[in-house]
Amino acid sequence: MAQAHERALVFGTTAEAYDAARPSYPDALVDTVLAYAGGAGPGALRAVEIGAGTGKATAVFGGRGLPVLAVEPDPRMAEVLRRKLDSLPHVEIEVSRFEQWQPGARRFDLAYAAQAWHWLDRETRRDRIFDALAPGGAVALFWNLLGIVDPVVHRDLTAFDTAYGSGLLRVTGLASDFAGEIESTEENGWAGWEFGADVRFTDQRSVRLRNGVTRRSADSWLAAVATYSGVQIMEPERRAEFLAELRSCLDAHGGFLDIAWFTDLFVARRVPVEAGA
Ligand SMILES: C[S@@+](CC[C@H](N)C(=O)[O-])C[C@H]1O[C@@H](n2cnc3c(N)ncnc32)[C@H](O)[C@@H]1O
Repeated sequence: MAQAHERALVFGTTAEAYDAARPSYPDALVDTVLAYAGGAGPGALRAVEIGAGTGKATAVFGGRGLPVLAVEPDPRMAEVLRRKLDSLPHVEIEVSRFEQWQPGARRFDLAYAAQAWHWLDRETRRDRIFDALAPGGAVALFWNLLGIVDPVVHRDLTAFDTAYGSGLLRVTGLASDFAGEIESTEENGWAGWEFGADVRFTDQRSVRLRNGVTRRSADSWLAAVATYSGVQIMEPERRAEFLAELRSCLDAHGGFLDIAWFTDLFVARRVPVEAGA
């Protein structure tokens, strides 16, 4: 447990690199979530973001004028987000783990987590989201997925991922494997599986957004890879060796990587009235 907790807070060791190298979230995601959450307009919604990190999602939601309370436990990540606040006047930060965070009397119309839901305590996270939402409020959980277009490159990179146990396959895969819709299974940990039997959340939907293909240089791909927790927790020598192996592999394939970018989104709504009312 202590190990999982430490790993959850490993991102802050390279907060600046994380902010520079990780993808943002597409406009279509913000449009979809705001349309689902409803309200008279972004300014009319009150949102809480769980695990805001350096604010990659905070910037795209807050940039629409949405008031966002960003909850982030790692002060090093929060510090990078704090520097963005000049351009995000309706964003506030509270440095706390979600498990310790106190909404007090505040109730939100939208609670969202970008690439962070899986870091929260499984036993309590749905109860805590429920408590933070106003009746009828929306929960939105999303993750970026990076699909490697070339099957040969994918095969070679997968071999290194397996050999080093870096866990990158949770976020990368063969692009064609993402051609269908989201599969909701216990094994793949999709949020829809977890919420499915919880009658406190209605109108549940899973949406896969297809954001197109981009060509990444080996440098930019390796910079992103280095920010994933499974890579960050490696011993420095092993990490350097792993990244060097990946670079040789990419160089052998032309020095670039074509990536199909997907964003998987789960939304649900807190039952509109108190159960039993
Ligand atoms: C992969 S990062 C995602 C950051 C940001 N949301 C983004 O999209 O770039 C996961 C974030 O969850 C945070 N986190 C880890 N455990 C948490 C917890 N128990 N409560 C709230 N946030 C947590 C980490 O500090 C980190 O900033």
